[in-house]
Amino acid sequence: MPAISSDERRLVEHVDRLAEEHPPLRVESADFTVHDPAGFERRYGHVLDYMARVELEVDRNVLELTTMLPDPPAVDRYFYADVWQPQEIQHGRILDRLQVELGRSPATPDTETVSAKLRVLGALAHVNGFQDVCRMLYYLTGMATERSAVLAYNLLHRGTEDLGEQAIAATVIAPIKRQEPGHYAFYQLSARGLWAQLAGWQRWLVRRMRTISFAPVGANDDTQRADFGAVMMTLGIADDVDDFAGQAVRVERDLLWAHRAGMAVPPYVLRAFRDAVERAQAR
Ligand SMILES: [Fe+2]
Ligand SMILES: [Fe+2]
Repeated sequence: MPAISSDERRLVEHVDRLAEEHPPLRVESADFTVHDPAGFERRYGHVLDYMARVELEVDRNVLELTTMLPDPPAVDRYFYADVWQPQEIQHGRILDRLQVELGRSPATPDTETVSAKLRVLGALAHVNGFQDVCRMLYYLTGMATERSAVLAYNLLHRGTEDLGEQAIAATVIAPIKRQEPGHYAFYQLSARGLWAQLAGWQRWLVRRMRTISFAPVGANDDTQRADFGAVMMTLGIADDVDDFAGQAVRVERDLLWAHRAGMAVPPYVLRAFRDAVERAQAR
């Protein structure tokens, strides 16, 4: 099937390019000079902590992947092991170092717990055709996560410049933010390619499972959901949740819900984002 192999070749070339153009960032290359540490901490301290934690949890994400996808295509492993993990872990280390420079405690990432839900998926992935359902869920999660990251880093970058913290904006946030679109592109290419190959029952299952399991990035319990809501409030995302949610899952909507003409944002996504904001406001 030549269509598949040309898709795969494009993916491999994409990952080659990322590896070449985006070596992992070095903590020593960042300039942690902050003019007003207390003011910056007050405004963005909790945002840095959330982002640092999520980035550092990449090690758990890799465990989750190996559980959920016992036999992935070679290009998936190439991407997450050789490019994605080494980049994300450095994002986490740099952001965590910044919050420590501001006098905060380091992030407390959970790098080991693979949820029961994912272990069940991994067991089912041995059933014929089910691993592709898991892969699709992985690409959808990746797309929503990376797109959210791109949008959030853009807002954080602008806010940091507005506070006059140019060294942080230029040598901490900007280099991280430049590496996220390539991750997003990998998941988008993968999701579009795989969706076109899925049978009706697989697509149905993807829609069902996505509807019941969608969560904002890094929000795995009630505290983290409220933390995420607080990040949305500080970055100004909470003022227009529908717009942010719509941008974060635009391709997911176009693929999964093409038959529901007029759906602006899948309702499960809006529900999850609004719930996070409500929890933050209630706290
Ligand atoms: Fe990252
Ligand atoms: Fe990323």
